[in-house]
Amino acid sequence: MHLQHVALWLAATVPAAARASCTNNGQLTKRVPATSDPYYPSPWMDPEADGWEDAYAKAKDFVSQLTLLEKVNLTTGVGWAAEQCVGQTGSIPRLGLRSMCMQDSPLGIRGTDYNSVFPSGQTAAATFDRNLLNRRGYAMGIEAKGKGVTVLLGPVAGPLGRMPEGGRNWEGFSPDPVLTGISIAETIKGVQDAGVVACAKHFVGNEQEHFRQVGEAKGYGYNISETLSSNIDDKTMHELYLWPFQDAVRAGVGSVMCSYQQVNNSYACQNSKLLNDLLKNELGFQGFVMSDWQAQHTGAASAVAGLDMTMPGDTEFNTGISFWGANLTLGVLNGTVPAWRLDDMAMRIMAAYFKAGLTIKQDPINFSFWTRDTYGPIHWAANKDVQQINWHVDVRQDHGNLIREIAAKGTVLLKNNGSLPLKKPKFLVVVGDDAGGNPLGPNGCNDRGCDNGTVGIGWGSGTANYPYLVTPDAALQAQAIKDGTRYESVLSNYANTQTRALVSQANATAVIFVNADSGEGYINVDGNEGDRKNLTLWKNGDDLVKNVASVCPNTIVVIHSPGPVLITDWYNNPNITAILWAGFPGQESGNSITDVLYGKVNPSARTPFSWGATRESFGTDVLYEPNNGNGAPQQDFSEGVFIDYRHFDKANASLIYEFGFGLSYTTFEYSNIQVQKSSSGAYNPTTGTTGPAPTFGNYSTNLTDYVFPSDEFPYVYQYIYPYLNTSDAKNASADPFYGQPAEDFLPPQATNGSAQPLLRSSGKSVPGGNRQLFDVLYTITADIKNTGSLAGDEVPQLYLSLGGPDDPKVVLRDFARIRIDPGQTSQFRAKLTRRDLSNWDPAVQDWVVSNATKTVYVGRSSRLLDLSAQLL
Ligand SMILES: *[C@@H]1O[C@H](CO)[C@@H](O)[C@H](O)[C@H]1NC(C)=O
Ligand SMILES: *[C@@H]1O[C@H](CO)[C@@H](O)[C@H](O)[C@H]1NC(C)=O
Ligand SMILES: *[C@@H]1O[C@H](CO)[C@@H](O)[C@H](O)[C@H]1NC(C)=O
Ligand SMILES: *[C@@H]1O[C@H](CO)[C@@H](O)[C@H](O)[C@H]1NC(C)=O
Ligand SMILES: *[C@@H]1O[C@H](CO)[C@@H](O)[C@H](O)[C@H]1NC(C)=O
Ligand SMILES: *[C@@H]1O[C@H](CO)[C@@H](O)[C@H](O)[C@H]1NC(C)=O
Ligand SMILES: *[C@@H]1O[C@H](CO)[C@@H](O)[C@H](O)[C@H]1NC(C)=O
Ligand SMILES: *[C@@H]1O[C@H](CO)[C@@H](O)[C@H](O)[C@H]1NC(C)=O
Ligand SMILES: *[C@@H]1O[C@H](CO)[C@@H](O)[C@H](O)[C@H]1NC(C)=O
Ligand SMILES: *[C@@H]1O[C@H](CO)[C@@H](O)[C@H](O)[C@H]1NC(C)=O
Repeated sequence: MHLQHVALWLAATVPAAARASCTNNGQLTKRVPATSDPYYPSPWMDPEADGWEDAYAKAKDFVSQLTLLEKVNLTTGVGWAAEQCVGQTGSIPRLGLRSMCMQDSPLGIRGTDYNSVFPSGQTAAATFDRNLLNRRGYAMGIEAKGKGVTVLLGPVAGPLGRMPEGGRNWEGFSPDPVLTGISIAETIKGVQDAGVVACAKHFVGNEQEHFRQVGEAKGYGYNISETLSSNIDDKTMHELYLWPFQDAVRAGVGSVMCSYQQVNNSYACQNSKLLNDLLKNELGFQGFVMSDWQAQHTGAASAVAGLDMTMPGDTEFNTGISFWGANLTLGVLNGTVPAWRLDDMAMRIMAAYFKAGLTIKQDPINFSFWTRDTYGPIHWAANKDVQQINWHVDVRQDHGNLIREIAAKGTVLLKNNGSLPLKKPKFLVVVGDDAGGNPLGPNGCNDRGCDNGTVGIGWGSGTANYPYLVTPDAALQAQAIKDGTRYESVLSNYANTQTRALVSQANATAVIFVNADSGEGYINVDGNEGDRKNLTLWKNGDDLVKNVASVCPNTIVVIHSPGPVLITDWYNNPNITAILWAGFPGQESGNSITDVLYGKVNPSARTPFSWGATRESFGTDVLYEPNNGNGAPQQDFSEGVFIDYRHFDKANASLIYEFGFGLSYTTFEYSNIQVQKSSSGAYNPTTGTTGPAPTFGNYSTNLTDYVFPSDEFPYVYQYIYPYLNTSDAKNASADPFYGQPAEDFLPPQATNGSAQPLLRSSGKSVPGGNRQLFDVLYTITADIKNTGSLAGDEVPQLYLSLGGPDDPKVVLRDFARIRIDPGQTSQFRAKLTRRDLSNWDPAVQDWVVSNATKTVYVGRSSRLLDLSAQLL
């Protein structure tokens, strides 16, 4: 454990020793490892931050009353499975504050019952609909609130989606930072409007599952001693991976979860550059940073690097020991961790809490994550205190309708030769394992870790239990019976003879359901250790499609997947008359796809990622084998900002369906682009300083005041407490190196609480960065006419060419989803802010609008750019 301190100090301050590695041509070369600059001290809250003033005042009032032990209780989880939720803090019984409940997931409440399963973030992003994203967030927030959850562990902007194989991409939104930024902001506002704290995760560079945790990797047979390092340069960080987190902070997010892996060879949960500098200083984040589960690796060092809450509190699950808890109490008492830093942690946690509208008296937690039984031990890991632990509260309201709407409006029509919408077809044949149910039940596989029947969501902690799952087979059959359509389904990918016999009959319309799946790294499904091991369809899906299409001239393909799959072999086959991507639709899957296939919903979703012809064409891939001996695998993000469509455009490479593409059952015409320049004045870099770090309340320095209150204290086995076992500090700590002076292992300035200069790019009391970055510099309008015969939504998109030699050909900057009746014209109105028009300049350490000529485009995808104009 002592070594962990040292490891942190090294990681945070000095370059790790040069490592040797083999290059592709087999020659041994030295590579210069990426390092992360130290940034101290950790910024404290700003009493005047926009939108946080009331919350700050309430937090100050509350935190000022707290004892040191009570403050530590707020910061430290009580241990894995110690209470009902997936993570809980200590409580403050003296003031009536119950333990805070942290609960997954980004698409529904995980592990409970009578909750909804919403479409994945990625599917919701495909709607390109701010309002729907917001309503989804609100509905999830309402369900969390109804269960007694304090912090909903979502939404996700890390992974962003650098590699299409990345296991958790579907939990997030899109590899485009603007689409993700808008999506995460709308979701956060929705969640927090419902009265629970949102948690933007995983900060940052958490792009793959492989090697994110040492223990997990070892379980798969990879012998590594440290987790993966995502090596990201400053410009790429700002223009790509940090971008959506900036929007999250601007949206007022209450908490941010730091990720498992390292960034530039420093663990994300103790990386002072990430937490102190980027998040809290530059972006002005006022909420609290929570560790991912077991992502904390040090005590004092993570505290001064900007971590505010450790989850689930124990060093590793069920060790009964903690880097914080008693150690944090001691760390403050012995002066290693400044008192102002602990006060700031408590302030940030309570301010986020009040900002979400919570009051000290909360509704009780009415479920236990660990069991569906009504009665059981409330302290699950300790198997202690059997009582009622599940009240089975139904929190779903009418969210099923919203889920159905989002999934239908998130279904992308990729190809249509006129076979859709279906109109009372004579004979409908539905084919594929993915059209039916899981024979083991919709929740039959732990955390959805299998591919049996239709895939409605991926696997891992980003899931929830289905209250029901409407299969495509069930919904399409019901529609067929209503219409008088003959209907047969073959719910297998391997029943070649039977399938062929049906789909080759006269008048057959075949709808094939195929899938691919992915999830979190702790579950391996068919050799996919979280990340997908390939980009092909699962379970022989390609052959199924080809076999059906070879005999059926009206073959429609529906894909459920967590990102692109390779459809190169068949998408052009004329017998394949339509292709749809239905994402991960959630519990209403069958109803949503029926709505689209039959035209009850006119499709208008856009693919939130590109579909390349080959795996290699994407230019990035998961690192599947350690590349640094036993040391931290090194993943260099050397492509910079060129991922997804930016990469394909740069390589001038063809692709099958580009980012932003999607068809409708009607047609639209674009015309009349207009650019209006706003006078916003010159950019003023922020200047000035903060105040000095405040402290709130007093504390005794007599260690006897910190031991367990009495011999009768109801101690729970393996539970993490703030108390000391004994008033002997060294023994209470159990740290064999207890007494090591802070200067020996904490970087200079780590404990400095004096006033600090503000960064030029940071906001003065405004979360999200310098206020002027969000000045609107241009407004762009265009006319969109519905030239078809059906009402429909169109998603006009604003792209920008920043014009520099190192810039992507175009980048998305704004979009809208507009309902237009046949023959009618509507105006698309988009804006460009200063940030939109800028590049991050690492030398200046700020956003700078370059002198290059800039061009705007209004179009229907990243490659169908109907209209353009130069910005003057
Ligand atoms: C800390 O939290 C634990 C668990 O909720 C509780 O038993 C204990 O009383 C709390 N301690 C203080 C000092 O509030
Ligand atoms: C893993 O690597 C370490 C360091 O080289 C070595 O000591 C250990 O034996 C290895 N473990 C296994 C299971 O190969
Ligand atoms: C304090 O942290 C050290 C690791 O730095 C650990 O070995 C020790 O067990 C912890 N003490 C408690 C009481 O959790
Ligand atoms: C369900 O999934 C599990 C895990 O992938 C697999 O072993 C099993 O064969 C599947 N069962 C059915 C009935 O499809
Ligand atoms: C059904 O198939 C028969 C034989 O090919 C054809 O004559 C008839 O027009 C088809 N009917 C419909 C409704 O497509
Ligand atoms: C890709 O992985 C899936 C899921 O494990 C598997 O079903 C499929 O056969 C693999 N594809 C190829 C070409 O190996
Ligand atoms: C299309 O289907 C017809 C049967 O209707 C078949 O004869 C033909 O070969 C198929 N075409 C392709 C390209 O598979
Ligand atoms: C600490 O508190 C204990 C119990 O109140 C008392 O006996 C002891 O004298 C105090 N120690 C100091 C150094 O004040
Ligand atoms: C202070 O407490 C921490 C946490 O137990 C411990 O790691 C450190 O060695 C202590 N330092 C001093 C100077 O006593
Ligand atoms: C743009 O050009 C002007 C005039 O040459 C120059 O002063 C300015 O520094 C340039 N700006 C940037 C960002 O390069």
